[in-house]
Order: sequence, then C-alpha cells, then structure tokens
Amino acid sequence: MAEALRSVYFWLFFNLSIIFLCSSQNENEFIYNNGFHEANLQLDEISIIHHDGLLQLTNTSKRQAGHALYPFPFKLNTSSAESLSFSTNFVFAIVPESDKIGGHGIAFFISPSMDFSKAVPSSYLGLFNTTENGLPEKQILAVEFDTVQSPELHDINGNHVGIDVNSLVSKDSATATYYSNGEGKKKSLMLMSGDPIEAWIDYDGGEKLLNVTISPIGITKPERPLLSTPLNLSDVLLDSMYVGFSAATGEITSDQYVLGWSFNRSGQAQNLDASKLPPVPAKKKASKKPGVLVIALIVIGVAQLLIVVIVAAYIVWKKKYEEVCEDWEKEYGPQRFPYKNLYNATKGFKDKELIGKGGFGKVYRGVLPSNEQIAVKRVSHDSKQGMKEFVAEIVSMGRLRHRNLVQLRGYCRRKGEFILVYDYMPNGSLEKVLYSNTEQPLNWFQRFRIIRGIASGLLYLHEEWEQVVIHRDIKPGNVLLDAELNGRLSDFGLAKLYDHGSNPQTTNLLGTVGYLAPELIRTGKATTATDVFAFGAFMLEVACGRRPIEQQGDGVVGLVEWITNCWRGGAIIDASDWRLEGIYSEEHMELVLKLGLFCSHPNPAARPNMRQVMQYLDGDATLPDISPDSSSIEVFITSNEASNSGMSFPSLFEISSSNQTMSISNS
Ligand SMILES: *[C@@H]1O[C@H](CO)[C@@H](O)[C@H](O)[C@H]1NC(C)=O
Ligand SMILES: *[C@@H]1O[C@H](CO)[C@@H](O)[C@H](O)[C@H]1NC(C)=O
Repeated sequence: MAEALRSVYFWLFFNLSIIFLCSSQNENEFIYNNGFHEANLQLDEISIIHHDGLLQLTNTSKRQAGHALYPFPFKLNTSSAESLSFSTNFVFAIVPESDKIGGHGIAFFISPSMDFSKAVPSSYLGLFNTTENGLPEKQILAVEFDTVQSPELHDINGNHVGIDVNSLVSKDSATATYYSNGEGKKKSLMLMSGDPIEAWIDYDGGEKLLNVTISPIGITKPERPLLSTPLNLSDVLLDSMYVGFSAATGEITSDQYVLGWSFNRSGQAQNLDASKLPPVPAKKKASKKPGVLVIALIVIGVAQLLIVVIVAAYIVWKKKYEEVCEDWEKEYGPQRFPYKNLYNATKGFKDKELIGKGGFGKVYRGVLPSNEQIAVKRVSHDSKQGMKEFVAEIVSMGRLRHRNLVQLRGYCRRKGEFILVYDYMPNGSLEKVLYSNTEQPLNWFQRFRIIRGIASGLLYLHEEWEQVVIHRDIKPGNVLLDAELNGRLSDFGLAKLYDHGSNPQTTNLLGTVGYLAPELIRTGKATTATDVFAFGAFMLEVACGRRPIEQQGDGVVGLVEWITNCWRGGAIIDASDWRLEGIYSEEHMELVLKLGLFCSHPNPAARPNMRQVMQYLDGDATLPDISPDSSSIEVFITSNEASNSGMSFPSLFEISSSNQTMSISNS
C-alpha cells in the first residue's frame, strides 16, 4: 500500500517537475529553490543530493573534490562583449568537521569543460592541478569561497572571497564581509560557520565589471558588493560554457553544501526564497551550537557533582552512625540500642552532657524521645576476642533487677567501641558527695542506709540471682545516688570488659588500689570474698570519710591501720568522719567500723559472706567480739601491714598494668 502510494507520488512529482522545468526555465536561465531533485546535475562520486533536495558537494573525507555542473552548456556570443553578461544567486554552507577548523572551500565556476578528473583537491579546490594552474588555455572563471590560507597561492587569509581567472592566485580578493543596507556598516561573516551564506555574482559585459556580494541568508541583497572588479571576460569565455560548483577537502575537512541556485545568462538571476531552501543537516547544526553542548555538559557535570555530594553525605552520615552488629546479636534485639538514637539522645555526645570520665571512657547524660533520662557510657574496646561471651553477659546483666543496682538498659557496639546504657542517677557518685567541700555532707542516717543498700545489692548479685555475679570493683566511685539518695551499685561485671579490652591505659584492670584483697593481687582471681574485702574497705571509707590508702608524708597509711590505732588509743568510734560532728548512732557506728575490719580480713576464709553482713547490719546476728588486742586483729594488722609495706603505688600499678595482668586474670 505504502509502496503504491509512493510510486503515485513519485509519478506526480516527476510530471510536475517537468511542467515546472518547462515553465520556469528557458534556455537562458534556471532556478532551484527547493532542492536539486529535478536538476539532473552532473555529480562526482563524492557528491550527492539528499532526500530533501540538498546538494552535498563533499563530506568530511580527506582530500576529496566534488563537482556539480548544470548538464547543458550555455551558448555565448563572444563577439559582443555586452552579451557576455550573466548573473547568478546561490546559497551554500560549509560545516567544518571540528568546531573551528575545516576546509577547504567552495567555488562557483564557468568552464568550457565538464572534466575535472585531473584537478586536485585541497587548496586547488578541484579546479586545476599544479601544472595547469595559471595556464590561459584553461578558460576558467571562478569565484572562490576559501576557508584556508594557502601562501603558495597568495591567499590573503583563511576566510576570503576571491576572483580567479585561469588560476587560483586570485585576481582580486577580500575578507568575507558584507555591507548592511541603509547604514552601510561592514559586517564580518564566517564562511566556515556552518550557517547558510547567500552569494550573488553579477557580470556586466558592457561595463566589464564583476560584482560579488555575500550575506547571511534571510536578509535582502546588500546594495554594496564585497568585490567589484573590472574584468574583460571576452578573453576567457568561449562560445559554449558550463556552469557549476566545485568544492574540496584537504587534511582538514568540511561537509560542503549548496542549498539553492538560480542563474541567468542574459539578465538578473531570480532571487532565492530562503524559506523554501532545504535545511543544513541538524546533526551538524548541533555540533556547531556549542551553547547547547556546553549547557548539556554543565547539566551533566552539575548532576554528577550532586550525586557525588549526595553519596559523600550519605557515606559521612552512614559513618557517623555506623555500628558493628553481628548475626549472633539478633536475639538481643531489645537490649541493643541503635547508635543513632544514643547519638541524638546525648546531642551528639556533646561535652555539655558529659557527667563522668575515667580510665574506662566517658559517661554522658542523655534523654530518650520518651523523655526518660539515661546515662551512656562509652568504653573504648578494640578486641573482638571474647566479645560474644561478653555481650551475652551484659545482656543477662540487663535482666538483673534490684533497687540498689543501677539498671543496665542495653548496649551498642561500634568499631573499637562499646557503649552501655544505664538509668540516669541524678545525684551522681557517692565518691563525689563524700569528698566534696561544697555539697552538704551526708548525715549518718543517709550513710548507713547507703551501706545497707549496697550490702543488699551485693547480696543479690552474689546469692539471690540465677548466677553468681562478682562485681570486681566496689568503691564509692561506683556507687551512684538516686533521687532519694539511695545508693546503687553500678558497673557490675565491667572489670571483665577491661580484661578483654586492649586499652593499655586501663590500670585498674582488676579493680582499684586499696580495695584489692591480698589474695586477688597474688592470684588475680576474683571471688565473692574479694568483693567482700572491697565492700569492707567501702564501709570504713563511708564511716570515716577517708580513703583506704592515704598518702602521708613519704609513706602511705592504710585506713585499717589507722582505725586500729584509734581503737587502741581510745574508742573505735573516734575514727568516725569528723564531718558528722558526732551526730550518729554510736551503736551503728561501732557496728559498721568493726564489720568493716572484719570484712577486710586478710584471710578470705575468715571474712563473712554478704548474707552474714546483712544479718549483722540488720541486728539479726551479733558480731563476734573482737578487740584491737585480740589475736585475730593482731594477725590481721600484721598481715595487712605486711601486704602494704613495700607495696607502694607504683608497684601496684605495675602489677595491674603489665602484661602479667592477662596471665593473672586468665589463670
Ligand atoms: C563520503 O562519501 C563517500 C562516498 O559516498 C563515502 O565512501 C565516504 O565514506 C564518506 N565519508 C564520510 C566521512 O562520510
Ligand atoms: C594536470 O592535468 C592535465 C590535464 O588536464 C594533465 O595532462 C597533467 O598531466 C596533469 N598534471 C599533473 C601533475 O597531474
């Protein structure tokens, strides 16, 4: 069907063309305004006529010459100069291969011969060869539109129009420009711009004057020609002459087109209508319009930049909230806090939210979206070793419930870091309150309640839970005070984390100096009895307001030794904290001091367990009658002195910070 329609169209078109040819053309003139379909031009192999009628003389193949000739010769009467007048009007376009460089150019010519097979391309524009150039017998007139300056042909520049008679050394030439009508301003024109250019060549045989005019298409013919050259063509033109176009490429190339053409050998050539001309191929147009390309490139560039920025921001964001989470942790879902939540709760771990600092790391105050306050402890931790067991332990400790324990809510893991989340204790650590010069000192009632509370919490850890939990680091610094000033143990089991941790700055791997039972130092093995020892030191400290070991002059004085001395010198209650100003229950003070000494017994087997400690504190059992002179205390003091003597701080630190630590704790 389409095929049939096409042939009908073709038939119609063919016949109309013939009618058009006959009507618009006599033997003296022709016009091709809407393509060269019907022109029957003689073409070289390289030259083609496109579907829309556009005549392409060359493509961008190198060193090619293309010719298109009107197929019939014009008969001239060379005996009369006046009758040699002619006029032609055409539109051409030179679309360079790359943006700025192209070649070589187009020429309109009048020639007695149709054979240009011996002519050479490049600067000879396919009109002559090197031996022919300049020979008068060639009888060729050409007007060249040359985009390359060829010094051997004395070209004026790379954008000129020249009049050539038997030679490519132009008789006259000018830079491609035009004079606007009216104001007569000289305007430059790029032959190689790729935009269509209209040309008029008019020869007046009577005046013997050749005028060449160019302009961009779409404007009326400039009144002032670019070239107006006196020329006697009687010597050049023969009786029978062909007219046509030649175009050539060299090392640099262009697509070269003729869009429309009119010719008259006896009067003014008909004007071309720019709106009817076939367009120059869009592909080349696009490449000629760097604006579009530049905009496209900018858009692509900006888009790429945007993507990079987004990806980078995403990576930074990812990194900021990055956590370590392994498959085995899945079952701990509820106890596992997303890092992002903790980050937001602590306002990005702001210094303002910092509430504690120690060898283990930093503690921050945080507020959850539910408005609950939490304490977030960041512990640096590089070791993967034992992590699984440790997390399991932490999670199981999260199930510990006791009013004298700081509730562990959960944890989070990042690379090199372990984060623990606890209930927030508004009154801070007991140590801070006990030794503060600014805060109101705790009264005896508060102190006794704290001691009893911690004993109760420790008993729960040791005996009342499904597993025996050894705290390992009981001291006032690890006792926090809630809103009602109840003491709550925190950091239970954390010493284990330090064991596994690789932070060499952690010096209190096995607890804290002054609270370490002698056998713990010897064996490195933490037991409930070593916890009782530390609790004893803690009790004495709370009652006396003095640290277990205090620097005095050059030496150190143990609190136990000091209390015993007080006791020997008078009453044991003389050792009580002076800040209490004597306001306390003597009975309870005596009980606490004696029980503290009892718990601090160097022989672990001689210490009470936490259940007994509770019974003594509650008055459910009576403390064995001990005196400073009784043998047990004597033994105690001497052995305690022995354990303290020659064991200055540095050596203790050495023990706990050296590599021995691991072997001790692993033994
Ligand atoms: C130019 O045209 C010739 C003949 O049609 C063809 O062989 C050649 O491949 C073309 N070159 C380019 C660059 O299009
Ligand atoms: C130039 O062309 C002529 C014919 O037109 C030929 O005889 C001559 O050999 C050619 N010269 C060269 C150098 O090709």
